[in-house]
Amino acid sequence: MSVTVNFLGHSGLALESDGTMVLVDPFLTGNPKAVADPGTIEADYILLTHGHADHIGDTVDIARRTGAHVTAIVEVANEVADDLGEEHPVIDPNLGGTVEYDWGWARWVPAWHTSTTPRGTVNTPAGIVISIGGAKIYHLGDTALFSDLQLVPQRDTIDLACIPVGGHYTMDRHDAVVAARLVDAPKVLPIHYDTFPPIETDVEAFAKDVAADGREVVALKPGESLEL
Ligand code: NI
Ligand code: MN
Repeated sequence: MSVTVNFLGHSGLALESDGTMVLVDPFLTGNPKAVADPGTIEADYILLTHGHADHIGDTVDIARRTGAHVTAIVEVANEVADDLGEEHPVIDPNLGGTVEYDWGWARWVPAWHTSTTPRGTVNTPAGIVISIGGAKIYHLGDTALFSDLQLVPQRDTIDLACIPVGGHYTMDRHDAVVAARLVDAPKVLPIHYDTFPPIETDVEAFAKDVAADGREVVALKPGESLEL
């Protein structure tokens, strides 16, 4: 496997493999923990879990500057396409849909959450299973704990699970321990915590609980990376 997973802070990832840069949920402007500059970050593709402001983030500005292809659930995709204009490549799957790219594929899967964009477009939130550089990464998006998380690894063996742990708007660190079991990945990247006061949590305690199940938690600080 060969992919570098850079944590952008909150739920944001920059995945780099073989010269291609794939961003997930690039929320940089207004994110007090972000270290990447939305005015210079590279992007070839942007994937979105849902349209909340802390996920759609800088998508339109980055896509406009870089020409990056954007993929999001259809209602969010339509809003982004309106902003970017007809010529800009925007892809609009729905839950269960797999999109093939020249670098791999991504599948949008259910998440239990709500979502409306800052402009008022109601949309269905998702998680994303991403195959890149020979690795399979499951970004759970914003979600509560629910039993269908266990369906994802029945089709694909997940190498890295990116799981929200901050509570309040998503599952908390205790439910996230159960989610890590259901997804059954050897490595867990905790996301969606400590960005704002309501989602502060004890990530070291989460790591200890998950380690007791034989899984490794890699708690990256914004700007840090891991290799798969
Ligand atoms: Ni959300
Ligand atoms: Mn969120």
